[in-house]
Amino acid sequence: MDLAAGLKGRHVLVTGASGGLGEHFARLCARCGAAVTVAARRKEKLDALVRDLLAAGAPEARAVSLDVADADSVTAAFAALHALHALPDVVVNNAGIAEGGAAIDVDIATFDRVIDTNLRGVWAMSTTAARAWRDAGRGGVIVNVASILGLRVAGGVGPYTVSKAGVVQMTQALGLEWARYGIRVNALAPGYIGTDINREFFETAPGQAMLKRIPMRRLGRPEDLDGAFLLLAGDASGWMTGATLPVDGGHLVSGL
Ligand SMILES: NC(=O)c1ccc[n+]([C@@H]2O[C@H](COP(=O)([O-])OP(=O)(O)OC[C@H]3O[C@@H](n4cnc5c(N)ncnc54)[C@H](OP(=O)(O)O)[C@@H]3O)[C@@H](O)[C@H]2O)c1
Repeated sequence: MDLAAGLKGRHVLVTGASGGLGEHFARLCARCGAAVTVAARRKEKLDALVRDLLAAGAPEARAVSLDVADADSVTAAFAALHALHALPDVVVNNAGIAEGGAAIDVDIATFDRVIDTNLRGVWAMSTTAARAWRDAGRGGVIVNVASILGLRVAGGVGPYTVSKAGVVQMTQALGLEWARYGIRVNALAPGYIGTDINREFFETAPGQAMLKRIPMRRLGRPEDLDGAFLLLAGDASGWMTGATLPVDGGHLVSGL
């Protein structure tokens, strides 16, 4: 089965597309022939990406200013797409932040920021999309970007692990409730992939030591996620919902 063909002619909305994995997913979808809506807070980055995508032959690309932690901003973004008759077929909940530190010293405002972005933001995006799909009498696809830290824990990233565990559970809860609407909800659980979110950490001695604990002994590259991403975003996963797929160089099965 040609996984890339599964996105041809679809419209994919990617949050957190102003850099890192979100930008990578947007470029991948465009190369597969999908129309792409890229969303994040830094609109100038999105506008530059849209120019790039169109220059590279993307069939359709647009940028939407969006703060996933602000429910009104999410509602406004979907209203703007609705007005353009551009309801997405696939929503990729990728926006995320990884603030943290030793749990004992993490203040409640930091905890709230991480949960509001990584967990509440996924809820706001997903429910807004699902209501729009239901009201339009059609189904849709949601791909959540969780993390292996939603399935196991590491020190110093408490709020992040809690948020991603919530995304894994949300994926199951929404998958259960929305199958009846033809809405599938699955999640990717990437291991460590080199992006802005962790660049500094992997330059430190603990970061280098962590790489040695990954069975495949290297940091992931964004393209390592492509197969699993295309599977979950396209029809090849037509009988999957509520699933979380780790892609991590074996990190989750590292020896104890
Ligand atoms: N890299 C990894 O090793 C790894 C591993 C597992 C999971 N993940 C997950 O993958 C996703 C992408 O991470 P990344 O590594 O690509 O990080 P990144 O390079 O730091 O990118 C994060 C993206 O999220 C956006 N974002 C942050 N807060 C937002 C908000 N409130 N509203 C809208 N957009 C927001 C940022 O854009 P703006 O600042 O412009 O809003 C940016 O585009 C995250 O959910 C992360 O937890 C990453």
